[in-house]
This record gives sequence, C-alpha cells and structure tokens, in this order.
Amino acid sequence: MGRIYLPTDLAFMMKRTGIISAVHQELAAVLDCLPDEQRQCAGGRDFWVGHWHGHDVVAVLSRIGKVAAATTATALIERFGVDRIVFTGAAGGIGDGLRVGDVVVASSFVQHDMDASPLFARHEVPLYGQARFDTDATLSNALANAARAVLAHPGRTLGADALAAFNLHAPLVHVGLIASGDRFVATQAESAALRCALPDALAVEMEGAAVAQVCHDYGVPFAALRTISDRADDGAYIDFTRFIDQVASRYSVAVLEAYFNP
Ligand code: ADE
Repeated sequence: MGRIYLPTDLAFMMKRTGIISAVHQELAAVLDCLPDEQRQCAGGRDFWVGHWHGHDVVAVLSRIGKVAAATTATALIERFGVDRIVFTGAAGGIGDGLRVGDVVVASSFVQHDMDASPLFARHEVPLYGQARFDTDATLSNALANAARAVLAHPGRTLGADALAAFNLHAPLVHVGLIASGDRFVATQAESAALRCALPDALAVEMEGAAVAQVCHDYGVPFAALRTISDRADDGAYIDFTRFIDQVASRYSVAVLEAYFNP
C-alpha cells in the first residue's frame, strides 16, 4: 500500500531545501540520490534542482572558503527561492573528546579569523553587534536526530572495511559551536591557539559561518552537519580525500536520507 501523508508531512515536503556541499565527492553522493535533477547555472556554479523522496531540493557545490560559501547561499536564496539550507561536509575536531568519525551538528557559528580589534571585539562581525550566528534549532534538532539514528549502526552506512580502515569505534553525535575561517588548520600550534581563543568550539572548517551570516540576513533557517575528518593537527591532511569518499560523504547522504524519509 502507498504511504499516507499527513498535512504536516505535506507542508514539510512543499518547502524547498538547499543542500550545499564544499567538495565534489559530497555533491556527487547527493546527486546519486536525486532521480530527476536538472542543471541550472548561476554565479559560475551549477545548481541541481530535483527531488529527494518527493522533497523539492536544490543541490550545489559551494567550493571551499567563506566567500564561495556566501555567494552560493545568496544565490540559493535569491535565485532558487529555498526555504532552508543544509550544509554537509567534513571538519577538523578541536574540542575535547571529539574523535575522527564523530559528527558535529552546529548550534552556532563564529568566524575564528574575524578580527577588527581594537575597533570591535575580537571575532565580532563589524556592525552586526555579534560574533556568533545561531543555526535554526528545529532544523538542527531534526538533523541531529537523523545523525544519531545513522551513527547507531555505522557499519550499515560505511561497511566493515571502512570502519576498520579508519579505526572508527562507536562514533558520537555532538551539538555545539563550529568555528570557520579561510585556513585549513593543520598544525598542533594553530589548533591549540584556536582552543585557547574559542574554548567551547567543537570543530573547525572553512564555510559554515559565512552561510550562517547570509541566512541570518535573509531570515532563512540553516543547519550544518560535519563529520570529523581530522584533529586539525600536523596529521590533518593524511587520508583526507579517502576519508571524504569513504566516510564523510556516506554519512552525509545517510543522514539526509533519514531526514527526508524518517
Ligand atoms: N575541514 C576538515 N578538516 C579541516 C581542518 N583541519 N581545517 C579546516 N577545515 C577543515
């Protein structure tokens, strides 16, 4: 028998979701889940308009860094009329207890490289009166619940070989602050400095705070999910591409799958 949809399901499905990936492998994994995507170009990017379990989605590769991410988010809102944005990708873990293979759902973002002192406090975005931009609580909660369901059985998503290859055991979902900056953090000294400047930051990446600021400006709900690929130290680049292929992309797709088809 066909699935029966409630009015709340239909309202959820009628909203258009923008899905941003920062790297090609992630976008490719997302596009594999859309049976009907159509390409549209804007701002030097390909936007893929399609459906995921009947949900209207627009998937796009932002490329890497805050400016690329802000341009992408703005085009999603202005040109494609998305009602919410979800960002998926990888991040370096800087918080205590975060391990490679864990997942972080952002509750807020800060730009760790924003510093207009002494005119404004360190990290404060000038003329906004704030350093931190919250994600949408409802959307983030739904994403975190979907992530918990996926990570309860990581072998189903990754397979035993990937679990063994990356030495992943009982991965956890964390919710908290993510710090973004235009730098791949790959030294012990830099991650220690970040921990000192932002003691409650769980992870570091290169796009989320820019999307959070754009979404704040437009009043569009935003959530972000990042798989910890490294500890932002001297070994951060080792196996990065293989990790994205075999772990982060698979988690992202499995979590979005659980989110769109609970
Ligand atoms: N994305 C994944 N790992 C990262 C790191 N160490 N620094 C910045 N962005 C990242």
